[in-house]
Amino acid sequence: MNQEIERRRTFAIISHPDAGKTTLTEKFLLFGGQIQVAGAVKNNKIRKSATSDWMEIEKQRGISVSTSVMEFDYEGYKVNILDTPGHQDFCEDTYRTLTAVDSAIIVVDGAKGVETQTRKLMEVCRMRNTPVIIFINKMDREGRDPFDLLDELEEELQISVRPLSWPINIGAKFKGVYNIFEQKLDLFKPDKQRVTEKVEVDIHSPELDAQIGEQDAQQLRDDLELIDGVYPKFDVETYRSAEVAPVFFGSALNNFGVQELLNCFIKIAPSPRPTKAEERMVDPEEPKFTGFIFKITANIDPNHRSCIAFCKVCSGKFERNKPYLHVRQGKTLRFSSPTQFMAQRKSTIDEAWPGDIVGLPDNGIFKIGDTLTDGEKLHFRGLPSFSPEMFKYIENDDPMKAKQLEKGINQLMDEGVAQLFVNQFNGRKIIGTVGQLQFEVIQYRLENEYNAKCRWEPVHLHKACWIESDDAEELDQFKKRKYQYMAKDRDGRDVFLADSGYVLSMAQQDFKHIKFHFTSEF
Ligand code: G4P
Repeated sequence: MNQEIERRRTFAIISHPDAGKTTLTEKFLLFGGQIQVAGAVKNNKIRKSATSDWMEIEKQRGISVSTSVMEFDYEGYKVNILDTPGHQDFCEDTYRTLTAVDSAIIVVDGAKGVETQTRKLMEVCRMRNTPVIIFINKMDREGRDPFDLLDELEEELQISVRPLSWPINIGAKFKGVYNIFEQKLDLFKPDKQRVTEKVEVDIHSPELDAQIGEQDAQQLRDDLELIDGVYPKFDVETYRSAEVAPVFFGSALNNFGVQELLNCFIKIAPSPRPTKAEERMVDPEEPKFTGFIFKITANIDPNHRSCIAFCKVCSGKFERNKPYLHVRQGKTLRFSSPTQFMAQRKSTIDEAWPGDIVGLPDNGIFKIGDTLTDGEKLHFRGLPSFSPEMFKYIENDDPMKAKQLEKGINQLMDEGVAQLFVNQFNGRKIIGTVGQLQFEVIQYRLENEYNAKCRWEPVHLHKACWIESDDAEELDQFKKRKYQYMAKDRDGRDVFLADSGYVLSMAQQDFKHIKFHFTSEF
């Protein structure tokens, strides 16, 4: 069991949209032997729907909405990549996926540097102490000086960095990367579709000058000397404790620097780590199975209307057909067809180990954050859900289909597509999202999967605050005063829907014993 745990690497590749996450993922699959030729060959839109995106809507929009899991064996390691949506309107999905990984690779566009989403993702990694490796992509484009980029990463992401590979020139003259981690240089020919033969070069030999030119060879030697002078020696422990982020340079599209990244990643990235439950810490080596649901997705296979709940195994061995406790419902369940994934392909498995992601058929029994165990009543702590940014009333647009609408809304909320609040004054349902696109996805999916029609009506709200107080009387007074703006979330908790920042700060002043939370634990 320890061996199985030791060889697992469960991680997510995350980035600001367009930095090259999909391209890098695809190149990893190429090295992992999962695909022979990158799908990027002809058309990016086809590629996007071909390898890692599932839902029809994603094909239409060319964005990745759902999180898929890709696994492969590489050099004796079992690599589990959790894919995340590319669009920032679905960032909550990405944050939740980060609760199931042991480390992350952040892709940064070398020409653009750190972008908004990069900053937010790093914040979530920091909240959970997740070790990160940074891949600076698109070095084949005219971009910024690598030393400047390193400074920007340290400043903007508030983490110390240590380069473990180094670009030989950038832009049109980009020739590859020197592998600082292994202290060797492999030169690849650029190839967008395949992995090419590599030539090994000793950087101290005159052969380097012959291969990349005298000037670049000298520059590389100077840069490396400077790096050794400026940055402390790389130490795996500081990376695993999330104090230092190793940095790699390359071009995912041209397959430069990708193998250097992957080879180092499998060696230094942490194997499954202990998981914090409300009751105690759970070690992956514990013999009894525990796991939690971090993602639910519907209709993976368009021919069969089915939901799949993604369960991350935290400890012990998961076995097919064994009875497990669904802690929230207090029910014992057996799973006869648990699955593992490779983008659109999935196959039934008999067992899974800590770090693995198991797909469980779900007909509405799971909610995000649910815990499964061998009998122990444990509750894994997830990531809180944040106050939505946008709010709309959802109304039934087809009176004959009220039931379908109700069911659809409930299931979509269980999947974590958006948040639902019920106004206590007029009983109307309010959906809260991070971005406009989520409203469109909900409407589309209600129609296509539940045969229900909805319509949106505006409601002007600023923030949703979960409120609590030790002073029951004051809380009661507050609810009476703000009765028009009081709502319940799906778990029946009191939520104050503030219509402006001013109203909120006045309420905070007037009701001193009430705590206003902008996040709620799921
Ligand atoms: P994302 O998942 O992070 O959103 O990014 P994605 O991989 O889709 O890449 C975004 C765009 O950047 C794509 O171009 C992709 O080809 C390009 N790209 C990725 N890696 C590199 C690189 O190393 N160098 C350069 N120059 N470009 C890179 P696109 O215009 O959206 O599509 P396409 O039609 O060019 O494929």
